[in-house]
Amino acid sequence: MLFKLLFLAAITFFLAVLWESPSARHQFRDELEKARGHINRSVKGYEGWQIIAVTAGATLILYKLYLFLVGTGEKTLWERIKGTCFKTVRSLPFINGKIEKELNKTRRLLETELLTPKPGETFHLSLPEKGLSHEEIMKELDGMDKLEPYDWRKGYTSGCAYNCDDKLTKITCDVFRRYCWTNPLHPDIFPQIRKMEAEIVQWTAKLFNGGSTSCGCVTSGGTESIMLAMKAYRGVGYSKGIQYPEILCSSATHAAFNKAAHYLRMKITIIKCDPLSRQVDVKAMARAINSNTVVLVANAPQYPHGVIDPIQKISELALKNKIGLHVDSCLGGFLLPFMESAGYPLDPFDFRVPGVTSISADTHKYGYTTKGSSVVLYRNKELRQHQFFVVTDWEGGIYPSASVAGSRPGGIIAATWAAMMYMGMDGYVESTRSIVKTTRWLAQELNSIPHLYVMGNPMVNVVAIASKDFNIYELNEEMRKRNWSLNPLQFPPAVHICVTMIHTRDGMDLKFLNDVKECVSLIMKDPGKKVSGAAAVYGTSQAIPDRSIISDIGYHYLNVSLTAAPLEN
Ligand SMILES: *Cc1c(COP(=O)(O)O)cnc(C)c1O
Ligand SMILES: *[C@@H]1O[C@H](CO)[C@@H](O)[C@H](O)[C@H]1NC(C)=O
Ligand SMILES: *[C@@H]1O[C@H](CO)[C@@H](O)[C@H](O)[C@H]1NC(C)=O
Ligand SMILES: *[C@@H]1O[C@H](CO)[C@@H](O)[C@H](O)[C@H]1NC(C)=O
Ligand SMILES: *[C@@H]1O[C@H](CO)[C@@H](O)[C@H](O)[C@H]1NC(C)=O
Repeated sequence: MLFKLLFLAAITFFLAVLWESPSARHQFRDELEKARGHINRSVKGYEGWQIIAVTAGATLILYKLYLFLVGTGEKTLWERIKGTCFKTVRSLPFINGKIEKELNKTRRLLETELLTPKPGETFHLSLPEKGLSHEEIMKELDGMDKLEPYDWRKGYTSGCAYNCDDKLTKITCDVFRRYCWTNPLHPDIFPQIRKMEAEIVQWTAKLFNGGSTSCGCVTSGGTESIMLAMKAYRGVGYSKGIQYPEILCSSATHAAFNKAAHYLRMKITIIKCDPLSRQVDVKAMARAINSNTVVLVANAPQYPHGVIDPIQKISELALKNKIGLHVDSCLGGFLLPFMESAGYPLDPFDFRVPGVTSISADTHKYGYTTKGSSVVLYRNKELRQHQFFVVTDWEGGIYPSASVAGSRPGGIIAATWAAMMYMGMDGYVESTRSIVKTTRWLAQELNSIPHLYVMGNPMVNVVAIASKDFNIYELNEEMRKRNWSLNPLQFPPAVHICVTMIHTRDGMDLKFLNDVKECVSLIMKDPGKKVSGAAAVYGTSQAIPDRSIISDIGYHYLNVSLTAAPLEN
């Protein structure tokens, strides 16, 4: 903005100086006269309609070019040029045929994986004519539960289910049952739900050392918390006259920020992580800040490698440039605040750091409540106001709405409130201690396995492993054969486990470690072996420069996921 103003001022000054000097003025006039004569001569012999048609055509082309160059702010010029090139290449029949053939293979792979009927599986492709009884429905569920390939209750998955403690399950479900018909959209009818939501926000703000002005709201999950925070910063940007407000974050930042930018028509700029620490490169972040930047993102910790960004340094950047700083603590939000009491002190990561203006923390992860629950916090109410939405002239009445949803599940809010009440400070400190202890022990042990190394410095709950000697996705496949479901990462290839309460019980951590050891020694018998199946797909997909091919597979995956009919034959 400032830059544009200075530029305009400079041009005005230049023209004024020109006008003040008589000789320059005359020269300027002569030049204009010459240009006019030149144009007059060059259109000699053309008819009026021809001149009009060419002018109109040229204007249209220039306007299109201008639109392409400026873009909508969502993608950079380079990304758009690349996209256009790939699109052109892909439309060549020879190339397209080859790509389609390969794509078809992957599409079929997805379909077989998700839609092949299991023995005895039943399908309901239309609503039953006559409603079923309670027993009949339960019987249907028993049949469907047999489809589960992983024993997630025993901890064979990474993340996914964060705590399946029986008492916690009972209290959450009892409370949900009691409030299952409630809706906080009507605080007059359900005052207890309004109170519970406000209390959840109050507790969470206190955990993150929010002062008297701190505030927030309960949302449906991490993505919604992030989206609302980004909307708030977009509002601040709009109020300063920025057309496409920009988010700056690291390459390890959760994809929910890309999604938010897409939904909100903001620009997102991704800063590379340091290859060793996997923390954001703060110097690169500083260089990327421009007059459109409205918010910096810091992770506490990030999802891929469980690493905490240097929040203090990012905060200094935010303060210096007078922009926002969002701390994404979706994953670690209910671990970090308890780590000091659990005997694992950390550098400040919350509102104690002066530049931090908002925080997201998922109650449905380490808050140990059921899915559909998260908290977004702000340093002050001015910022939060930009997340709100009010319609005044609707025929249905005045409609104020805090978050994305209109009607909201009061039962989930009540269950969250109850889970937090049940855990209490002592419960969270205790669970945090076991999670961090298990994670750090695993990180140390995994790092000492030959041919494997741990990425970054995992201090909280995630350990990412990679290998210089074999294809790490093969480890994923081997672990799958031993009933483990881990998360594959890319750029660079790696695999991670997100440690939950379930892994801290029944020697699951030791079982995991031993299985990894076994798989590694098996793979190292023939490390150059050609991989196949999902491991191959994941490996080669990173080498494909045209990412639109990969997104095609993503779209197909979503399409297949939402298909009810089984695969024929
Ligand atoms: C899970 C997660 C999110 C997104 O949360 P959802 O609840 O899946 O929408 C965002 N950031 C991080 C670091 C996460 O782990
Ligand atoms: C423009 O060009 C035409 C024909 O070449 C000429 O007759 C006319 O005088 C020119 N007009 C001016 C204003 O110079
Ligand atoms: C890919 O599959 C589509 C539809 O399933 C089919 O129409 C097309 O011919 C296939 N392309 C190739 C190259 O096999
Ligand atoms: C994996 O789970 C299946 C089904 O629960 C079981 O039959 C099989 O023995 C398990 N495999 C291993 C290696 O534990
Ligand atoms: C969507 O998935 C179904 C089921 O696999 C498939 O038959 C159909 O062709 C897919 N459609 C598109 C557009 O990919």
